[in-house]
Amino acid sequence: MDASTNNKLIVALDVDTAQKARELFAALRDIAGMFKIGMQLFTAAGPSIVREIVSAGGRVFLDLKYHDIPNTVAAAGVEAARLGISIFNVHASGGGEMMRRTADAVTDISEREGLKRPKVIGVTLLTSANAQVLEEIRVVNSPQQQVIALAQLSATSGLDGVVASPLEVAAIRVAIKQDDFLIITPGVRPAGAAPHDQKRVMTPADAIRAGSDYLVIGRPIIDAPDPVAAARETLWEINPL
Ligand code: C5P
Repeated sequence: MDASTNNKLIVALDVDTAQKARELFAALRDIAGMFKIGMQLFTAAGPSIVREIVSAGGRVFLDLKYHDIPNTVAAAGVEAARLGISIFNVHASGGGEMMRRTADAVTDISEREGLKRPKVIGVTLLTSANAQVLEEIRVVNSPQQQVIALAQLSATSGLDGVVASPLEVAAIRVAIKQDDFLIITPGVRPAGAAPHDQKRVMTPADAIRAGSDYLVIGRPIIDAPDPVAAARETLWEINPL
């Protein structure tokens, strides 16, 4: 597999112990381009597992979806940058000031401390959310309108990209004319795989065709009887020879 294909696969290390994360990282490090550490593993194992994977040469997407007052999120972003991760995210619904101050704080600390600046990504709408969920929280926009609005706010607030469902990638590319704007898509399911709680899903090949830069895949790989085979199959599906 060539490096550009590998780089598109982010495996979500959604496990409950550092040991399980270590085993998945060891098995998949030559297949996946990056590893996502989210709130389950981070809450269970703390920043030491992030440091461990980064110092072993793994690239990490720290998926803690920060959403708080601007000062607190900017300060958390500084600590994320100091962990050496490659990408972290904030909820775009936290607003423009929160995103701007975080992006600026990360640029500043990276320059001052000689760190590689991580990409800061906005979460638009969770891929588990549909129109019914928006109605519950009294958002009048359709899912697509809400995703586009939050993606535009992320772009104008200085973020490097967004997390969105693969179903919205094409519309985001039309709305945001910025070639280097990253779109990371969870909600990816190989043909025939169980959707679990994801409601807006696409296959890996279709997500890449639609314009995703990275695919985040968790359960279809980490819960597979053979995660290495499942990851290889996904790569094959993204880029058949
Ligand atoms: O197991 P599955 O492939 O559904 O995992 C998707 C991963 O992406 C989960 O870790 C989930 O928290 C994350 N995610 C998501 N939707 C977003 C942002 C992150 O599903 N909008």
